[in-house]
Amino acid sequence: MSIYSVLRANLCVNRSSPSGKAHSAIAGWHCVALLLCLLVLTGCNNGMEDQPKYEPFEASTFFDSGMSAQPLVANTVARGQLRADSHLYAGQVAGRPAEEFPFPVTAEIVARGQERYNIYCTPCHGYAGYGDGVIVQRGFSPPPSFHDERLRAATVGHFYSVITNGFGTMYSYADRITPEDRWAIIAYVRALQLSQNATMDDVPADEQPALEAASDEITGTVTVTVVMPNND
Ligand code: HEC
Repeated sequence: MSIYSVLRANLCVNRSSPSGKAHSAIAGWHCVALLLCLLVLTGCNNGMEDQPKYEPFEASTFFDSGMSAQPLVANTVARGQLRADSHLYAGQVAGRPAEEFPFPVTAEIVARGQERYNIYCTPCHGYAGYGDGVIVQRGFSPPPSFHDERLRAATVGHFYSVITNGFGTMYSYADRITPEDRWAIIAYVRALQLSQNATMDDVPADEQPALEAASDEITGTVTVTVVMPNND
């Protein structure tokens, strides 16, 4: 349609020769009409690219705040994020720190907890939980040992609260560790605590002879020779 109009417009220009004034006046009006048509047609390109909507962060004169994006209504919960299970998400049962895990602890969960613990907690608490991580060795205030009587008796809900909300100089890990992983870490901390306070009675009877044999080997004398590099 527009190519056709352009052709017609060119034709008009050619026809407006000085051969007859009336003829050229009509041709002139013809041209003006066609040009107007063209203008109208090009003006019709008001498509999807220019919609009457706000772009992200665009200012608005409609709201008092001057912002087009409005804050969420208080207590809005996104779909799938209703955390009504206070045991799983807050570590609390009937308003008190939970004494049990919110789901059964399996070997896979303890393994997952070990992996997460080694990533997030060892820098300060150390691999075995004695509070002697590398950051502490470089001067950070030392955390208590997980093998202290008080923390061995502490509820799992207390551990969950410490990871979630922070404790004293320890900051919160809520934005880095999911609730499920927090519980997995606590399961691993419980395993660490048991590992440092276990007795032979905690070992299944059929595995005790093998462990006794191994511990005899471990308590034998070991001579280690350290060879220092020669800096000559
Ligand atoms: C940057 C160092 C740092 C990291 C990393 C860290 N903590 Fe701590 N944590 C501390 C310090 C310091 C304290 C002692 C805080 C205080 O008493 O003021 C502490 C205290 C604790 C306590 C004892 C609270 C009590 O009742 O006395 C627990 C339990 C604990 N942390 C668990 C964890 C777990 C689990 C992780 C890993 C998810 C972790 N922490 C990561 C520094 C750290």
